[in-house]
Amino acid sequence: MLNRLTIRQRILVIFIVIAFVGGTVQFLIAGRQLEAATLEFYQHHLETDALLVAVTFAEPLGHYLEDEDEDDIGRMLATFQQEVGHNYLILDRNYRVVGYTANTGYEQVDRVPASPELIEADTAQIGSDIRPNHAGESTLYLAVSVIYEGDALGYLVLSEPMAPAYAEVNRRYMELAIATLPVIVLVIGASLWVSSTISRPVQHLRDSALNMARGALDTRIQSSSQDEIGQLGETLNYMAGQLETLMKTQRSFVSNAAHELRTPLMTLKLRAEALSDETLSKNERETYLVDIRQEIDHMAELVSALLMLARIDEGRQPHNGVVLDTVSLLHDIMRHWRIEAEAKRLEFFAQIDPDLPDLPMSPNDLRVVLDNLLSNAIKYTEQGHIRVMVSHTRQTFSIQVCDTGIGFTEQQRTHLFERFYRSETVRGRFSGNGLGLSIVMAILDYYDGRIEASSPGTERGSEFTVHLPCRM
Ligand SMILES: Nc1ncnc2c1ncn2[C@@H]1O[C@H](COP(=O)(O)OP(=O)(O)OP(=O)(O)O)[C@@H](O)[C@H]1O
Ligand SMILES: [Mg+2]
Repeated sequence: MLNRLTIRQRILVIFIVIAFVGGTVQFLIAGRQLEAATLEFYQHHLETDALLVAVTFAEPLGHYLEDEDEDDIGRMLATFQQEVGHNYLILDRNYRVVGYTANTGYEQVDRVPASPELIEADTAQIGSDIRPNHAGESTLYLAVSVIYEGDALGYLVLSEPMAPAYAEVNRRYMELAIATLPVIVLVIGASLWVSSTISRPVQHLRDSALNMARGALDTRIQSSSQDEIGQLGETLNYMAGQLETLMKTQRSFVSNAAHELRTPLMTLKLRAEALSDETLSKNERETYLVDIRQEIDHMAELVSALLMLARIDEGRQPHNGVVLDTVSLLHDIMRHWRIEAEAKRLEFFAQIDPDLPDLPMSPNDLRVVLDNLLSNAIKYTEQGHIRVMVSHTRQTFSIQVCDTGIGFTEQQRTHLFERFYRSETVRGRFSGNGLGLSIVMAILDYYDGRIEASSPGTERGSEFTVHLPCRM
């Protein structure tokens, strides 16, 4: 049932139940103790009176038992009732009535039955019992043995209504209730405050998260608190920030891709239109067809690069590929690029550590990384050499590709790995889509690897270094 309530209602219910149960238990325990103490005090006070009066009656009772003159006792009883209060009854050892104060209901009684206080007084000198009197009022009866010259002569019974004592107990219960009430009010107030400090920020978080979900990713949660809710707010803000960047990247990726595809499509359209001109010479026709083939190749390259990025972005299953014979795979790749370099009259050096470990990655991915780095090195170098060095330590596998080509500035270096980035130095001078290094970066990210680029400056060569963890 509780999980159908809001957090605020839950806190309120729990606090109120605890306050109510706690308050009631406290009230009952303290009340019981107060009640017992009040009644004990009342009884103790009357017991002192009864003992004193019993001593006073010892001698008169002795005389009475000798000559049966009850006048003395009757008079004394009346005086005591007037001065001390309470009702008294004097009995002999056989519970025969010797004397009593007025209105106690013994006028017609000769002998009283053995009541609990009388039996107790026999053994403990004083006995007590609470029961209704002849008029039906709850009454305390105290019986004391009357002893004269060492002989137990009879009993003095003091009786007093319990009503005043009960009134006192009720008054104390009232006081206790009045003292407990502010505590309960305080607890309810505190629970209202606590619940609102929790539920208000949660409500705010919910509204902001909904706003974000509806697409307002620039929404940020304002929170000054350092508690768990504040931290949750910060996490949501971080998440929104990341999503915003991701969405921006995705949007610019799509628009860049569309833009890159539109240019070759325009060229294709123009060439196709030109081909429909029947006055065209055979040579011109041939040139246009070569152009068309080139554009189609370019588009095919672009589409396969886009597909590869999309595949990486999609997030693949945990990889289980392994490069088993790393050295021969590398030699195979180098053989191909050496031919390419030499065709461009560039010197090509490859230094491959002969005892490279197996690599926990798909051989095809390793090939894509190297193909991109080496094709760049050869493409952006007009003269000089290309040098590849592959080495390893216990933890890391490293590939270094250096060239003596066009290099890049520090400002350009910061953008090299962005999708579709091509420095102003290369645009118009070299062909390309600006996707090779982003693919390399995405693959390395996937295998927890990294890449660094450095160059002493434009036209002064460049150096790309890849690090990959080589632990399986
Ligand atoms: N070896 C290099 N020397 C100098 N600049 C480089 C080198 N490699 C990359 N760059 C710079 O980084 C940019 C991005 O490289 P990237 O490989 O991503 O794209 P691209 O080579 O232009 O096109 P493609 O998608 O066909 O690879 C290049 O346009 C170039 O400006
Ligand atoms: Mg490239």
